[in-house]
Amino acid sequence: METSLKDDIRILPDPESLAQAAATIFADAADHAIADHGRFSVALSGGTTPRKLFRILGTIYCDTVKWNSVQLFWTDERSVPPDHKESNYKLAYDELISKVSIPHGNIHRILGELAPAEAAKEYIEAAQSHFGTKGIPVFDLILLGLGQDGHTASLFPGSTVLQEQDHFAVPSYSESVGNWRVTLTLPVVNNAVNIVFLVSGKSKSGIVSKILSEGRRHLYPASLVNPIKGQITWLLDREAASEL
Ligand code: 6PG
Repeated sequence: METSLKDDIRILPDPESLAQAAATIFADAADHAIADHGRFSVALSGGTTPRKLFRILGTIYCDTVKWNSVQLFWTDERSVPPDHKESNYKLAYDELISKVSIPHGNIHRILGELAPAEAAKEYIEAAQSHFGTKGIPVFDLILLGLGQDGHTASLFPGSTVLQEQDHFAVPSYSESVGNWRVTLTLPVVNNAVNIVFLVSGKSKSGIVSKILSEGRRHLYPASLVNPIKGQITWLLDREAASEL
């Protein structure tokens, strides 16, 4: 299995224990960041995999995490309104945000209801205001999913957004799904203290193997996630890891 020295790969028996492991990492990272600098800046991943994680955070960790010091961002968002079934924000709202006492001002959602360029501009301004820099900020934790084509966030194979070095977030078009999104860029992801990939299910076993063991790392956007100083943790359930 070819991985970088920074990759920590953990294989969990099933999706529930995968989510529980992710929740433990989330809570520990939050405790550490809040103790260290008074707040926890985290970017939530999209798609369907994080639902179990958000549900655990919104129930078991409802009173454990210091939610008033948690600053929520997203790795990406589809260009849809926040109440749309495809909205990454909606999933987090339904399972987590509506269940915990997090101040409204701590929620920095990508305004999917706006045109992608306008939404990206607004997201950049919100991040600059929060982090106090026009440069590349440092997230305490970034959660990422993995698509079967090796995309992560809304960084798709062959897309020009993979070359973006200056902006915090940019519009991104998904050819396979045929919709617009806004995504964090690779320099932001790679500047994080902790990056956790959450990957579940047999359908991901092939791409997981290609990225983590076949040495073809350069082909896939997820392979370009190589943190400058931070740590990558791959949380895989047994099915997703079945070709390793
Ligand atoms: C998105 C996600 C995307 C997702 C992967 C995995 O908005 O679609 O950010 O990167 O994490 O496609 O999606 P699933 O968890 O649904 O398999």
